[in-house]
Amino acid sequence: MASARIVTDALPAPADPPDPRAMPGHLRHGAGISLLAWVLERPDLAEQRIAQGLRKDRRLGSKDRPWVADTLYGILRRRRLLQTLLAAGGWQGEQAPEALWWAWQVLVRRLPGDEAPVPSAWLRGCEDPGTVLEPWGKDREPWEWLATVGSLPDWLARGLLEDRDLEQALAEVLAQDSRAPVVLRVAAHRTTRKTILEALHASGIQATAGRWSPLSIVIQGRVHLPSQPCWRDGLVSLQDEASQVVASLVAPDPHSQVVDACAGAGGKALAIAATAPPQVQVIAMDIRKHALVEARKRARREGLKIRTLPIQPEGPVPLQAGTAARVLVDAPCSGSGTLRRHPGLRWRWDEATALALPDLQVRLLERYADLVAPGGHLIYATCSLWRAENQGVVDRFLAAHPSWEPIPIIELIDNTEARDLGRDPVLTMTPHHHGTDGFFAAVLRAPKTV
Ligand SMILES: C[S@@+](CC[C@H](N)C(=O)[O-])C[C@H]1O[C@@H](n2cnc3c(N)ncnc32)[C@H](O)[C@@H]1O
Repeated sequence: MASARIVTDALPAPADPPDPRAMPGHLRHGAGISLLAWVLERPDLAEQRIAQGLRKDRRLGSKDRPWVADTLYGILRRRRLLQTLLAAGGWQGEQAPEALWWAWQVLVRRLPGDEAPVPSAWLRGCEDPGTVLEPWGKDREPWEWLATVGSLPDWLARGLLEDRDLEQALAEVLAQDSRAPVVLRVAAHRTTRKTILEALHASGIQATAGRWSPLSIVIQGRVHLPSQPCWRDGLVSLQDEASQVVASLVAPDPHSQVVDACAGAGGKALAIAATAPPQVQVIAMDIRKHALVEARKRARREGLKIRTLPIQPEGPVPLQAGTAARVLVDAPCSGSGTLRRHPGLRWRWDEATALALPDLQVRLLERYADLVAPGGHLIYATCSLWRAENQGVVDRFLAAHPSWEPIPIIELIDNTEARDLGRDPVLTMTPHHHGTDGFFAAVLRAPKTV
């Protein structure tokens, strides 16, 4: 049984009323409900659908769009909580977009329940959530609390509790309720962080040096990057700080080969190339050809050279085994550390597929480990907060390959800001503790002889 404080802390804070210059309420609600209905059909595509729907709906003005977007994101982040509160009032799933929309207005915007155009009994729980949640919670397991209050699928709620208690797990989920800041990575081969910070300040942008990566800049508030010269000139890229720290763990020696086996659109491959010593060859592989095309475009923008290599999901890898000094496996994962940016991601996987992710990750690690040269490093990373996808995968790999040796990350992180991260042998960054996306990374050294 969770404590009453957990319930109080977990309820969304009351929100401000809309701007008085916004459109009349009934039109705004109508537009929001239609958009919500469309988003609920494919919550895994929520961000795209919200952005597209807001752009297309000509009824919405500039004062309405942020309000509608905040409401939609709020509902997505708290859908299961709203459903539980509604169900206590007799709601059985009918008129879902309307019911959820008005439940949010009552719970967060303090609209009196009898002013909403749905049965007011449904909304009683949203007027006084404590009276519903306390009896509801009496016989519930911690994972049910987490799934409901944090609005997570059951498998993820259970997974997050594998190595934390309910309070810690809820803190990680709630830390992902707010919008992620814009974080830049400075192109270290072309300029310095100080120069870019000065340029941004001169344009009136509030920006500060990030705490964890020596190349990161955190922007406060919104910014239109395409109008910034540093963006146009390819001197900065978008990349979360934790992702930057993961890339820095690759740390290749001069004249060596680095393989980024799951490179996607090249976020980490480019971060590695930008800081690599001379004559390092970075090979970016992925099963998605179009992501690699994007990686090449981004490389051109930043003035970097990488080789891209599309590969098949199974079968032999078209590179010589045992030749790469560093192999990064930034594996496909639940993405449970990136819910700030992608609130709908939690609904992307059905339970069976999600529970099979750790097996896939072990297979990928096995597959790409073959490329590592004797004594070279295999870097395994995810943007997940679920132990089974993180240390669980590493433990399984090491059990099958006892001659591989974990390298404590403190040996690889050399900037003083980030040294605080090195107290554990592996890298664990989380939204709650570090204010970054959630990331895990472990570095394993291949045996010197095979
Ligand atoms: C977490 S994303 C990579 C993000 C990227 N490293 C970055 O920093 O932006 C995982 C990537 O793994 C790719 N992937 C999935 N299965 C794969 C496989 N069998 N081999 C290589 N890549 C794979 C996906 O297409 C996806 O781009």
